[in-house]
Amino acid sequence: MNLKAVRYNNPMLISAVRSKLTSKSNVWVAPSIDFAGVTDQFLANASEYAEKTDNRAYWQWLLTKVLQRVTLPKAPRILEVGAGSGNATLALLELVPDARILANDISPQLIAIMRARLTAAQAKRTELVCADALALEFEPESFDFAIGTAILHHLFEPEAMLRQVCRALVPGGQAAFLEPFEPGHVVLRVILEHLIRDRAVLGIAEEIAADLQRSVDDTAMRASLRRDDPTINILDDKWLFTAGRFAAMGERVGFRRSVCFSTPDVTGLFEGHIHCWLKYVRGRADLPDTAWEVIRHYDRVFSDDLKQEIFLDGAVVFTK
Ligand SMILES: C[S@@+](CC[C@H](N)C(=O)[O-])C[C@H]1O[C@@H](n2cnc3c(N)ncnc32)[C@H](O)[C@@H]1O
Repeated sequence: MNLKAVRYNNPMLISAVRSKLTSKSNVWVAPSIDFAGVTDQFLANASEYAEKTDNRAYWQWLLTKVLQRVTLPKAPRILEVGAGSGNATLALLELVPDARILANDISPQLIAIMRARLTAAQAKRTELVCADALALEFEPESFDFAIGTAILHHLFEPEAMLRQVCRALVPGGQAAFLEPFEPGHVVLRVILEHLIRDRAVLGIAEEIAADLQRSVDDTAMRASLRRDDPTINILDDKWLFTAGRFAAMGERVGFRRSVCFSTPDVTGLFEGHIHCWLKYVRGRADLPDTAWEVIRHYDRVFSDDLKQEIFLDGAVVFTK
């Protein structure tokens, strides 16, 4: 792999991180890392995050969808930024058996978990790089494909990551990012506000209504956030995207084309999303039937064709 000019000269950090790993091979660690903007969810509480998101069948399904939208050469060199505990990495290693992957993440804890999940054969095709992806100097035009799942909305400067990735791709190379989109989240906010407003009549517990309100507040903040707003320093999820914003950012950093598509199945889109979200934050999707009926009403109001266009969670594929 062509990873240039990264100096791994802090033996303390390297040994501290490597001591948590099952093997010393394939792991590169940056000499110093600035964790500003990265929350404990990915550092001190990394194992909880890894456990919650570990679902092999789901990641295989998701990456299959992405791979249907891109063209890879034989034996592709793949760059993955913000790879976390390796959910997408493992799926890619299985789905593209001749690929070599450089998987990066800023979190030593998550890199250690990913390393432990790789089989010996998979480790041979993988290099793990623990560093701020924006601080790395990749050899220009050294990767055929790049991917990032749920990384851009955590960054202070998503565009800087796109510039970094674009530079690292060969001409004609593609990059896919899977991110939350604003149009679908605004509709979701309207649905949740309906549930909160009618909570007494729908029989929604106050404690659940408070969680719904937090989601509404979060959407409102992310939709209107600016880089110079100090709130950005404490927010874990910082941004929501639109197809237009991705197109403009892609153009500024040197991509020729961008195409967005919805990643979840759009039938029952809002019901499915709220179900998964409640399970993630509360451990159970414990809304009363009356509330699910309201949510299904919104799912019926929006045709599947329209839901394909408003994007709740989606992917953008850039071509250089
Ligand atoms: C929501 S998690 C997604 C992890 C993984 N892609 C997945 O989908 O399971 C976001 C990841 O981005 C990583 N991250 C945040 N800022 C980063 C940076 N500047 N460089 C590299 N990784 C970063 C975090 O450590 C975390 O693992």
